[in-house]
Amino acid sequence: MKRKKVIIDCDPGIDDSLAIMLALSSEELEVVGITIVAGNAPVQMGYENARKVLQFLGRLDIPVLIGADRPLKRPFVNALDTHGPDGLGDSQLPLVPSDAFSQQPISAREFFEKVLPCGSVSIIALGPMTNLAVLAKQSPEVFGQIDEIVSMGGAFRSHGNCSPVAEYNYWCDPDAAAIVYEEMDRRSKKIHMVGLDVTRKIVLTPDLLAYMKRLNPETGSFIEKITKFYFDFHWEWEHLIGCVINDPLAVAYFVNRDLCRGFDSYVQIETEGIAMGQSIVDKMHFYRHSSNAVVLTEVDTFSFFRLFLTRVLRLSEEPDLLGQILRC
Ligand code: BDR
Ligand code: CA
Repeated sequence: MKRKKVIIDCDPGIDDSLAIMLALSSEELEVVGITIVAGNAPVQMGYENARKVLQFLGRLDIPVLIGADRPLKRPFVNALDTHGPDGLGDSQLPLVPSDAFSQQPISAREFFEKVLPCGSVSIIALGPMTNLAVLAKQSPEVFGQIDEIVSMGGAFRSHGNCSPVAEYNYWCDPDAAAIVYEEMDRRSKKIHMVGLDVTRKIVLTPDLLAYMKRLNPETGSFIEKITKFYFDFHWEWEHLIGCVINDPLAVAYFVNRDLCRGFDSYVQIETEGIAMGQSIVDKMHFYRHSSNAVVLTEVDTFSFFRLFLTRVLRLSEEPDLLGQILRC
């Protein structure tokens, strides 16, 4: 099988960590590197968290590169209230000593410049798009060599999670998101927008977590450790028993496009005012502009969890129990 090369650009982050776990257990993917952006956690903390996850997976061979430490223009607002004081659910996992890494100390941008010209490399963007916007502005030819961008971000019909209309990744750095949509548009390439319309349907429940621990006690317990804070946050803010795990859906969709459905549209990101960070989806074609995005609106939740459990937890049988747990 020819594996697809991807860079995961992320801000770990609890659900980013689950996404990394899914990507590294998906044999269709060759994860060439993980670039870190300031988002859920300050960039250094995100870097340490990525290393903690790689340590758990025994994959310290994957390069982790530090990127932007703040949004392009706006003051940086992290999401440690959602992801815990350590950005990883207050799991207090030990730092990975730096001598466990043999990689060269290059920046995320230098890494993009080194890897993207090799061709056929896609980006799965799971955080604010600052790293990508910086690349688009400073190395436009290299940016133009990105094969595809699948972005966890935005919302179409769903309400936001940072304002009535804005999702965190686009709200945190709206200028960056706007640039990336514009620059892809200029190159007639479509961003796959895996927004809140679909990710809100990916809820990790206590039953699913219990099932994960039965299937694979070590990995299930690791997931329990990093998601406990997230469960508490969702109860306090949304009265939801469980937690929405956004980012792994972007990875799953990259692997299997049949998991989500949607439509092509022109999307513009608002950078100012009360709608700052909103993804304005011109479904009715008012602007008469060609589409620059695939906006996903439907998701097969059962198939997502089957994929996640099969790969990350090594579920090996046809999961009748999963259907019961998900009540479908
Ligand atoms: C997005 O924001 C972050 O909190 C999550 O990691 C996800 O990427 C959801 O709005
Ligand atoms: Ca994220």
